[in-house]
Amino acid sequence: MKIGIFDSGIGGLNVMAGCIKLLPDEEYEYYADSDNCPYGTKTPEQIIEYTDRGVKFLRDKGCDIVCIACNTATSVAAAVLRKKYDFPIVGVEPAVKPAVTDGDRDKRILVLATPVTVREKKLHDLIERFDELHRVDVLALPKLPVFAEAGKFDGDEVDGYLAGEFKNVNTGLYDRIVLGCTHFIHYIPAFRKIFGDECRFLDGGEGTARNIKKICTEKGYLCSGGFGINYYQSGRIVTDKDKKDFYTKVLKRVNDIRQQLIN
Ligand code: DGL
Repeated sequence: MKIGIFDSGIGGLNVMAGCIKLLPDEEYEYYADSDNCPYGTKTPEQIIEYTDRGVKFLRDKGCDIVCIACNTATSVAAAVLRKKYDFPIVGVEPAVKPAVTDGDRDKRILVLATPVTVREKKLHDLIERFDELHRVDVLALPKLPVFAEAGKFDGDEVDGYLAGEFKNVNTGLYDRIVLGCTHFIHYIPAFRKIFGDECRFLDGGEGTARNIKKICTEKGYLCSGGFGINYYQSGRIVTDKDKKDFYTKVLKRVNDIRQQLIN
């Protein structure tokens, strides 16, 4: 079976890492829409157009299932594309439900996402559905995907940016942070410096991978028996060794962060 993973950039590698763990013998087609990243500051119409192009591309490559591994694109484009196409399209969702159901009820929960996700109705509907005690706040961090695409996961520039964005946030109120953007897993070490070691980080990558496995099993898709990954940047196959190495490094980083820092 072929699994297509779509994101504006490297964020979807987070979901793909989870899929590879659960479905290690499949073929993966990874589409990073690097030409148009970041999505978080684009209009819904642009995001729908770009996502449609990427999802169709992956289907044309023979993918049985396509995951929109981007919260921003899922927020505005998933429902539209599910109406348009008849193959399985899986989206991602911030882990608001587990965040409100476990943990200290006196503490607050902060959802970090892109400006589009923070504005869109989908996130507010999700929060309204589960946040009975009104403990969930949201904050947009528009520059993090830009840093991530440039391979800047730490350092003074990142710390300075985050210090500015959290300047008016009473960080001591929170003990759970929901990562509502697939790029944000890379910043857990930086968030830790601000929110402390006790703070929990909830990322939807592994949950999405479980959902993909469940759908593939239900649909009876056959195991291809030959693991492999092809990378595409906005539709162009990646052959450049440095770029491939960068993706491999990011995949490894996601696995390391998940093992060490997600509790
Ligand atoms: N990775 C994406 C998300 O999950 C979008 C980042 C961006 O392109 O702004 O929202």
